[in-house]
Amino acid sequence: MPIISQRSGRDERAALYPAELLPFFDDSFIASFDFFEEYVERLTLSVLRTTGLDAACGNDTTVAHAVAHAGLRPEVALVPASWIFAMLASRKWIGVRAGADGELRYRIERALPALDAEEILEKQRAHDPRCLPSFEIAALAAAHYPAVLRGQVSGEQALFGPEGILPWVKYFSNDNPIYTVSNKVGAIAAARALPAGEAAILEIGGGLGSGADTLLGELERTGHAAKISSYHVTEISPLFLKRAQRNLAARHPQSRFQFSALDIDRPFAQAGIAPASCSLVYGVNVLHVAHDLAATLGELRSALSESGMLVMAECVRPFPDTPLHLELVFNLLSSFRDAVLVPGWRPNGGFLTPEQWAAALAANGFEDIRIYPDIAAIRDAYPSFVVAAIVARRA
Ligand SMILES: C[S@@+](CC[C@H](N)C(=O)[O-])C[C@H]1O[C@@H](n2cnc3c(N)ncnc32)[C@H](O)[C@@H]1O
Repeated sequence: MPIISQRSGRDERAALYPAELLPFFDDSFIASFDFFEEYVERLTLSVLRTTGLDAACGNDTTVAHAVAHAGLRPEVALVPASWIFAMLASRKWIGVRAGADGELRYRIERALPALDAEEILEKQRAHDPRCLPSFEIAALAAAHYPAVLRGQVSGEQALFGPEGILPWVKYFSNDNPIYTVSNKVGAIAAARALPAGEAAILEIGGGLGSGADTLLGELERTGHAAKISSYHVTEISPLFLKRAQRNLAARHPQSRFQFSALDIDRPFAQAGIAPASCSLVYGVNVLHVAHDLAATLGELRSALSESGMLVMAECVRPFPDTPLHLELVFNLLSSFRDAVLVPGWRPNGGFLTPEQWAAALAANGFEDIRIYPDIAAIRDAYPSFVVAAIVARRA
């Protein structure tokens, strides 16, 4: 996310970002974000080699051919391999052209650059070590690529095994500037969307509680905290939920919390969520993993009272097919890759564009749909600006 707009060559942040978000996207944050992108791109170069995908790229090759040539498991490897090739082609480190059949073909046209990811890590350490957890998670994923793509271990086991817990705890944290911007954007959007009167909040994928902590902080700051009659934090991971409970109870002793295990791919009634019981349903970077997005949106809609609001902070893909840097990590997870696809609004698992989110919500009983900030207005200038909140009202 360079400071300079790709459209004009000038710094257009003040014109394009809402004023209240500008402090979070200052020069220091952007320098860290640029280092993170460069780090991921360099890791991708090394992953091309460690997975053996480079050996298939002497001639124009399709992703499917490269995966077969490298002896990788297609059901796991096709999505991450497509992303690797698209990311490297976006840097022009490898060539790409569409074949007569429309399928993309990749080719290593000249020696791949010898770029050391560690060099960037050191620059980040000197610039702002608080962001290092994001780099650690990317390195953890890169190290597991060969085993996951060969089908020797699942991405879930690789990333959330014993060695992954501490890095994730440090990553999903408001002490990590690269992660906390999602919480900030989501909290501002949610505080503004809060319906009048008493409000019962349900959070899905509440993780370790950093999203709830930020939202409660924003509600306190804007004078809305007294309106919150209950805050129900739910999460699929019992370990994360336990930590969230401990953290939130200590930081917000006045709040009326409830904590429950909830898998967003299952009926919400199983977690004791009554129909029409919530005025706001909130989530940070979770809805995109819904296996069947229509079914989950149906559950979310049922949980909301009449005119209740849905606010989901999300990493939003600026344009269809643009590879996002975070996908180096999340493409290893089957929950991210394998979704029920729906023409028009669910063309892939994982991250969606603003238009796809709007169509998904409109098709599943929501209205007044907004994306905050307006990614569609920002993306030509800053295609790396991907943090947003999807806001919609129950129709
Ligand atoms: C981006 S994290 C959110 C982190 C959280 N805001 C925090 O502060 O720690 C997304 C969360 O969604 C959870 N998650 C993943 N799949 C889920 C599912 N099917 N149902 C519910 N939660 C899920 C993950 O365990 C993770 O904690």
